[in-house]
Amino acid sequence: RRKPANSGELLAWYDVHARAMPWRVPPADKVAGVRPDPYRVWLSEVMLQQTTVAAVRDYFHRFTTRWPTVQDLAAAEDGDVMGEWAGLGYYARARNLLKCARVVVSDHGGVFPTTLAGLLKLPGIGPYTGAAIASIAYDLPEVVVDGNVERVMARLHDVHDPLPGSKVQLTELATALTPQARPGDYAQAVMDLGATICTPRNPACGICPWRDPCVARVEGTAAELPKKTPK
Ligand code: ADE
Repeated sequence: RRKPANSGELLAWYDVHARAMPWRVPPADKVAGVRPDPYRVWLSEVMLQQTTVAAVRDYFHRFTTRWPTVQDLAAAEDGDVMGEWAGLGYYARARNLLKCARVVVSDHGGVFPTTLAGLLKLPGIGPYTGAAIASIAYDLPEVVVDGNVERVMARLHDVHDPLPGSKVQLTELATALTPQARPGDYAQAVMDLGATICTPRNPACGICPWRDPCVARVEGTAAELPKKTPK
């Protein structure tokens, strides 16, 4: 019987291959137990919805230079924020961003809630963003499910049921793998794996830290998963 996948294998890979990103804490600081700033994690995760990491970098830099804290952003003029957002698209995200910053300042003393339930009450924060902030900023074992996670889980367990119907099953598989230790690193490790190795086309199975436990690799089905119900 195949040995099931384990988060430790992925974390060991992440320790070597994590992509440097402006909202991540560099490894040297991790030793000192430094956590990433929840404001920066929130801002990056909202920007990353429907936008690639490469496209987000410059926007993230401009936003955090102009508005380094949630207090600064909350006090910004609407037009200035919409102007800096121009080009990222999905302008409802920018309006919710500003609304959320103002609620964090007016109702929470400028501190993002430290539980998933608290985060989910904020404007524009849904299950994905809430779990991402809770795990990445606060290292809580919340389950982050995005397209990368769905693809990795579908392949690891050779799930042929199509999305979106299989979403519940893939979320359960993701939940079972989420570790109590380093859940924030784990969440980002799955996303990096999905972006760099377990890619939609031509996955690089030969260098994957989960090549041994991956059922789709053995079955030769990785490139065709996850299946999607035609719209
Ligand atoms: N995509 C969305 N959020 C991400 C993160 N924190 N790391 C890598 N890719 C991501």
